[in-house]
Order: sequence, then structure tokens, then C-alpha cells
Amino acid sequence: MSPHAVQIVPTGTNNWWKEATIYQVYPASFKDSNGDGWGDIPGLISKIPYLHSLGVDVVWLSPMYDSPMHDMGYDVSDYEKVLPAYGTVEDVEKLVHACHERGMKLILDLVINHTSDQHKWFQESRSSKDNDKRDWYFWRPPRYDAYGNRLPPTNYRGYFAGSTWTWDEHTQEYYLHLYAKEQPDLNWDNPAARKAIYDSAVRFWLDKGVDGFRVDTVNKYSKHTSFPDAPITDPKSYIQPAIQMWCNGPRIHEFLREMYDETLQPYGDVVTIGELANTPDPQHVLKYVSASAKQLSMVFHLDIGHIGMGDSLEDKYIFRPWKLTEMKSIVTKWQSFIEGTDGWTTAFCENHDNGRSVSRFGSDAPEYRERSAKMLALMMVAMTGTLFLYQGQEIGMINAPRDWPVDEYKDIEGRGYYEEAQRQVDAGIDPTRKDRIMNGLGILARDHARLPMQWDDTPHAGFTTGTPWMRLHDLYKEINVQQQESDADSVLTFWKTVLRLRKEYRELFIHGAFEILDFDNQNTFCFIKSREGRMALVALNFTSEEQPFTQVAMTGKMKLLVSNYTDTLSEELQPFEGRIYISEEQI
Ligand code: GLC
Ligand code: CA
Repeated sequence: MSPHAVQIVPTGTNNWWKEATIYQVYPASFKDSNGDGWGDIPGLISKIPYLHSLGVDVVWLSPMYDSPMHDMGYDVSDYEKVLPAYGTVEDVEKLVHACHERGMKLILDLVINHTSDQHKWFQESRSSKDNDKRDWYFWRPPRYDAYGNRLPPTNYRGYFAGSTWTWDEHTQEYYLHLYAKEQPDLNWDNPAARKAIYDSAVRFWLDKGVDGFRVDTVNKYSKHTSFPDAPITDPKSYIQPAIQMWCNGPRIHEFLREMYDETLQPYGDVVTIGELANTPDPQHVLKYVSASAKQLSMVFHLDIGHIGMGDSLEDKYIFRPWKLTEMKSIVTKWQSFIEGTDGWTTAFCENHDNGRSVSRFGSDAPEYRERSAKMLALMMVAMTGTLFLYQGQEIGMINAPRDWPVDEYKDIEGRGYYEEAQRQVDAGIDPTRKDRIMNGLGILARDHARLPMQWDDTPHAGFTTGTPWMRLHDLYKEINVQQQESDADSVLTFWKTVLRLRKEYRELFIHGAFEILDFDNQNTFCFIKSREGRMALVALNFTSEEQPFTQVAMTGKMKLLVSNYTDTLSEELQPFEGRIYISEEQI
């Protein structure tokens, strides 16, 4: 057994996935094996030894299903096929094997709120009003304004800007899509549709040996099917923010329990991590993650990703300056809510839908970026819950340079906001909106995380020998795996060390009770993790200035376990310094 392998404690309460470190792979951008400029599964297989050496226990593979790729594979046209550019079903089976061979596991992304409009189910559904799959999606007649103009059946604004309804000429009705018009929403109220989802999207892959799923958009499957209009918050517009119309709908817990009973439970301790949006009440979150509820193993509460985003859906990409106390409240809330319950939580600060953590929460200036990457690593490894790393986070990859033009941005969501802003500028509605959106995209765009992985300093960073589908970061010669593997002081080496420490002190870091010490301080973040009389003290400086180390008095009986500086000063935290102290004995 490798030193990093997950300890399986057969108590039924410490499931294998609780202590796992899970690493998210975005297949298009990880490793290209055949020079077509797109990452692929054989490329990923070639890097499994690398992930193993990092200390990763589980690979989460973002969608690799067949897809027209309007939303980078979150628009699935066939759950039982792999996108040819990524490989084949056999390649995924080889990947399962490659992971299992090293004591690692593989989980897939389960995208079952919607399909692609190219999925055969939707093709049938749209073919006629009396097709037997008509009701597998949501079709509604139009409504008309006082002048007889046709309007969508409700006023909902979707995630990618624009209405959630698209008109279908052929059958003269609208269909619902929370995301792009190429992503029609499945109607989970239809039992035959649910059964087909379970068979095709879930069982098909469990039968191939995958160990679980990250469950996309997990609380949006149950809609208020009478489709009432959303309250009008912007009188200038027909479409209105409406997420409450589809998040945590009336039958959502029933659906998730059914999926658990019928498709997951029979396969043993399958892990599920739900992407849970718009659910601020911890008591409600517990309904999803309590072990006795038998729905999901854990969820991502997305608040940390929303730091710096505009307050409303329309303003998502208008950057909003934030304070450290905001991050502290978020972390405290989602670290603490499971204490004393049978639920479980997650720890993450990056994924494929957000900018890079160093650029957002630390500093990506050359003199600080490594320090900030390590400081954030200390914060993450000390957190209770299952830990998630996103590809490139382990080498401190940073956001794309601010001077990249919008053409380098490929994501359908960011482009939707940009184009909407352009229309508002052209119409004289909001002359500065385009600049404000571009500024926000420079910090927050989903594209930042989707730049190709930086493996080495050869042309195209060792990601591909061909033309990469997305531009490489200008700094790949300075920030790459190869350089960091041979540097004892690198961000990568630091992550290896602290991931090992996380396992060594698992009772404190993975299972400990969280308590914040300096809530009102806007510069430093100090917290305690404790369990059975032992404790760890974590002190983090989020600024580029020295800060007083206000908790120094506590450290008398503790030892310094790890720091991102070699020359720590007792009374002061240096720029972006992070330290963890540990009590060796019970106190
Ligand atoms: C989730 C995914 C995101 C995708 C959306 C629609 O939020 O993380 O990338 O665009 O679902 O499937
Ligand atoms: Ca390829």
C-alpha cells in the first residue's frame, strides 16, 4: 500500500471517500497524446503515475461523453459513448484499470439535468407532439403580448444570458433549457425518462467499474412544473432572474433518494458529490448529505467560487471587491455545519468554472505567486471534509494575462455575457458595461481554469505537439511541472509534503472541529482544528505586507509543523505567509 493510499476504516461511518484527495481533470486541457491539440484519455492514462506521486487518491474526470461541445461536454449527446477526440469506452476502461492498479479510484461527471439537443431522446421528443418521448423534456405553448407578439411561456433568465425557452418551429412550442439552447432540460417528473437516465448515464458506467460521480447541477432536477413567472426585479427587461424556480424543487429529495436506492446502493459504497447551487441554509444542505438520508455523499457549496462575483445572475461577471471576512464566513459556515451530524463536507477553492485561486485570493505577481499558492495549500489541507484539487493548482497555475483579447476566451458563458454587454452598449442602455464585463472576465472567467496544463518548457508546454485548442499561458516556461519536480522548494513539492501531512494528522485536518480565531481581521485568517484534546493552529497572511501574528501566545506548547517560509518570525507573519502549529500532547 502506498503511503498516500486511503485508509479504509470499516466502521460504516468513515467511508473510503472521506479521507481521499480528489483531483479534477478537465480532459480537453490535461494531456494530448496524438497531436490533435485536444487532451485525451490516453494522455491522462500516461499521467496517472504523476498523479499518484502527487498523493492523489481519486481522479474526477470532467465530461468525456460524446457531445457537440457547446458547453465543453456538459451537453451530452450519448452517455454510452466517449467523444472521439477523447478516446473510446475501452480507453475509459483502461483508465479505470490504471487507477485501480495503483490503489486509486476514478469518478465521472454525471450530467443529467439536461442532454444535448443532439441526444436521440431529444431528437425524438422534438419530432412531434405525440411522440412517446415528448414529455421527457419540457414543452410549452407560447404566450402573446398585447400586440400579438409571441413570447416565451415564462420570463426566466437562463445561466448563459437570454431566455430559458427556445422556440421550435416544427412543433410550434417552446422547450426549456436552463443553460444553452443546445442543452434542453430533462423532465425528471416523467418516470420513463428517469429510468432511462439511470440505465444509460449511471449503471452503464458503474458496470464498467467507475467508483462514483460528481453530480452536475444536483438540485435542479425537480422543477415547479406549473411554471409560474419569476418576480420582476428588472422592469426594463422581459426576462428576470429565476433560479428559485428550479433550485431545490418539490420532488428533488425524492428523486435523489430513488437514484440512490435503485442505481447507486446496489454497487456498494459509490461516492457522489453534488454540485449544490443556491442553498444557503445548512439545515437544508444536511438533507442532501446526511448519511441517513441516503442521497449524496457530500456536496460542493459554491459560495467560495462566488467570491468577487456580482450579486445577481445578470451581474455575475461584474467584479465586486471583497473582504477577507467574506471568505472567513463562507469557510466557517461550510466547515462547521456537519459537526455533530452524520453529514459530510468538501474542501476546494478551484474548479473548471472559476478563475485560479492564486490570482483571485492571493497574488499572481511574480514575487508573490509561489508564496500565495503555498499559503492557500496550507489552508486547504487543514480543512475538514474531502479535499479537491483542480488540475494545475498543484503547480500554482494562474489566470490568463489581463491583456488577452476576448477572442482568446472560448467559454459559452463568458462569451454570452460579453455579447449581451455589447448589445447594451450598442443600444445605448449601458455604455460602460462591456468594459466592466471584460474586467470581470479577466478575473473570474471560467476560461482561466481551462488553459492547457503546463507540463514543461518545450513548445506548447508538453501539452501537445500540435496546435492547442486553447492558448497556452504566456508564462508556461516559468510555471510548469518539469521545473517544479526537480525543485525542492517548488509549489509542487510543497503540495506533496502537505498532502502527506494531511493524512498523517487526519483526525485533526480531515475530521477536526473548526473554530475561527480572528474573525474581524481583514488581513489574516487564523483558525483551530481540534479533536479529542489535540489541536492544530493555522495562521495565514492574505496580504503582501507583514502582519502581526496575534495568536503567538497560543503557540507556546505547540510545535511548528509546516510553513511556507524557512525563516519564520515569532511575532509577525510575512507577506502571504502560512503556518501550521500542532499540539503534540493533549491540552
Ligand atoms: C455545471 C458545470 C458547468 C456547466 C453547467 C451546465 O455548473 O460545472 O461547467 O456549464 O453545469 O451543465
Ligand atoms: Ca488528442
